Amino acid sequence: MRLRRDGRWVLDGAHLTLRPGTITALVAPSGAGKSTLLRCLNGLLRPDAGTIELGGRDVGTLDARELRRRVGLVVQTPTMLPGTVRDNVAYALSGTTDAAVAAALDAAGLPAAFADRDAAGLSGGERARVALARAFSRSPEVLLLDEPTAALDAGTAELVGATLRRLADRGIAVCLAVHDVPFARAHADRVVGLDDRELG
Ligand SMILES: Nc1ncnc2c1ncn2[C@@H]1O[C@H](COP(=O)(O)OP(=O)(O)OP(=O)(O)O)[C@@H](O)[C@H]1O
Ligand SMILES: [Mg+2]
Repeated sequence: MRLRRDGRWVLDGAHLTLRPGTITALVAPSGAGKSTLLRCLNGLLRPDAGTIELGGRDVGTLDARELRRRVGLVVQTPTMLPGTVRDNVAYALSGTTDAAVAAALDAAGLPAAFADRDAAGLSGGERARVALARAFSRSPEVLLLDEPTAALDAGTAELVGATLRRLADRGIAVCLAVHDVPFARAHADRVVGLDDRELG
């Protein structure tokens, strides 16, 4: 896949295959295009050349809402909607129970009581975990995470790694862009560059 921004190639020959039930870590230097690639995969950006398929179907034939539902993305610096943490986790989900919100928060390393906190007052690491809880509370086929552990302490990062494994075990294709190579090696099934080749 290729994508040009401001007259230069930001992605040039990027290639990635994500498999159900598998955690893929995308490791490449800062500025290499990891975030750009993830944004292409859930339709926030459209590549200038190349194709993206979901279950053998060109994603260009899916409507944007369906694509976003099936392919979740946790962005690198998540923003919060006005309201409580519960509002943020349950956003655009109908009939979410307190128990489901609590389970999603727990999987992201936050106590259930966090649901009542005003999202505007959260720290960077807390926001990162609420964004993870929001993603965990949906059931995407593909879950993309951009530097999900960058703002987290080592213990919380391990917990997030274990949660990603549980999601993969449910058949979700998980892909995370990370700089933390030891974390990638510990938690991913494949550690690849932007050309889909496994790092040695
Ligand atoms: N909105 C934009 N307009 C123009 N260029 C952009 C835009 N967003 C990103 N770029 C450029 O695209 C390139 C790839 O950026 P991207 O954010 O995908 O890299 P990355 O691999 O995620 O880096 P990092 O590890 O620092 O997050 C960079 O050179 C960046 O400056
Ligand atoms: Mg990035």
